Amino acid sequence: MKIKDICCIGAGYVGGPTMAVIALKCPEINITVVDIDSKKIEAWNGDVDKLPVYEPGLPEIIKKVRGKNLFFSNNIDSEIDKAQIIFMAVNTPTKTEGEGKGMAADLKYVIASAKQIAKASKTDKIVVEKSTLPVRTAEKIKETLESENSNVKFEILSNPEFLAEGTAINDLFKSDRVLIGGESTKSGKLAINELVKIYSKWIPREKILTTNVWSSELSKLASNAMLAQRLSSINSLSSICEKTGAKTDEVSKAIGMDKRIGSEFLKVSTGFGGSCFKKDILNLVYLCSYYGLEEIAEYWHQVVKINDYQRTRFSKKIIQNFNEKFINKKIAILGWSFKSDTNDSRESSSIYISRQLIDEGFLINVYDPLVNEKRIYDDINEISDKKVDNKSLKVFKTVDGALKNVNSAVIINDSKEFKELKWKKIISESKNSIKIFDGRNILIDILEDYPYYFYL
Ligand code: NAD
Ligand code: UGA
Repeated sequence: MKIKDICCIGAGYVGGPTMAVIALKCPEINITVVDIDSKKIEAWNGDVDKLPVYEPGLPEIIKKVRGKNLFFSNNIDSEIDKAQIIFMAVNTPTKTEGEGKGMAADLKYVIASAKQIAKASKTDKIVVEKSTLPVRTAEKIKETLESENSNVKFEILSNPEFLAEGTAINDLFKSDRVLIGGESTKSGKLAINELVKIYSKWIPREKILTTNVWSSELSKLASNAMLAQRLSSINSLSSICEKTGAKTDEVSKAIGMDKRIGSEFLKVSTGFGGSCFKKDILNLVYLCSYYGLEEIAEYWHQVVKINDYQRTRFSKKIIQNFNEKFINKKIAILGWSFKSDTNDSRESSSIYISRQLIDEGFLINVYDPLVNEKRIYDDINEISDKKVDNKSLKVFKTVDGALKNVNSAVIINDSKEFKELKWKKIISESKNSIKIFDGRNILIDILEDYPYYFYL
């Protein structure tokens, strides 16, 4: 099979950047990214400075490849039919109803895509799972494809994505590893080989790992679980640091200098956010329970519980240390996205912390360099029936605007912009001995001796 055309279903945070990089590295292959969301496709085809996904380095790549060998389209059926390889990069959120509600991954978008692939395909296809999926989903996809279309042959591969938002382009250029799971049949091996050839264009061959399908599917869930587990570990230690006078940044550094542990992913925070860690761990917990491994399920569940605890702990710290003499309970929230350099705010701690503060009667001024106002209101209103309006939460286009007349500033994410602000000047000019609650400990060097500075 000669690979000339690729179709990617799902033009989101994974589909867009991943396909842009493959298009850049494989100019001989035409790639079309399709999506049911026509506005998103319109945006991908529009101004490169207003792409639906903000990712450093992405606009430059889009400028080079869009219209040459990278296309964004709504013609899902014809693009599926044209392609030899189809990537599925659709969302796999936690189920909100039915069996496994609140824990298991909702596969409705994956199954809908499989049905669409079956319906539209007139020639044999390699179908690649790019989405993060529960172990043995490939079986379900194969069943769906084969029961809906017995005229063509489908080979299923698992090729999970490990990029992190905000550094996606660098992660894709220099992946620690590329994982490809496939069947050990002759056709399975041929399919694996086709995908290996694509990645080999820029990833050293020794970093391309081929495994069976189930190992590949499980490795993705396990990687996210292990990363999140480190965060819950360091966040849990921050509580004991606070009680004992130890400093979390000093403890992190000391732990991380052991090369068996390593220094990455040991920065304390208000809890990890993002669309994946929580949903993938809950998915793992559900799988463990499904297989009767209750102790293992409970072990991983604790990672999510500590994350929730850390968020509430931070909100309580703000509430307890707020100066009651102020009539105006007005607070600036700096950073809405779940980390710096992304416009993605899914599962961001800012949403939960703001909600808890609003419930305590605080008025919130929000500033984020990348997340738009509508998204901020939608986020906060999605987690509770009590609607938040522009009296209790206001969105500002500048930090200065958000900091005007507040008594406290809360730093939620690690944006460089917050570190670079002239904090000493801001404090000296504020009427209220402004209190700083720093959830990422980014101002320690600047403000540690300031009496109204609180960090985790
Ligand atoms: P996303 O929500 O940004 O994008 C998914 C896209 O799929 C949406 O635009 C949606 O409209 C589209 N879609 C859904 N059903 C469709 C259908 N039937 N036909 C066409 N389009 C359809 O999601 P994402 O963040 O890109 O994540 C996608 C998958 O990748 C998830 O499984 C996620 O766990 C995994 N993942 C995400 C990241 C990340 O950093 N966001 C990293 C690694 C893996
Ligand atoms: C994470 C993984 O890092 C990726 O490998 C994976 O592909 C992706 O999930 C996924 O499957 O979606 P992402 O969520 O985009 O990537 O970003 P991370 O850099 O992992 O950050 C996640 C959260 O942890 C953020 O809220 C971040 O602020 C927080 N974090 C990170 C800390 O609190 N401390 C740290 O030391 C590092």
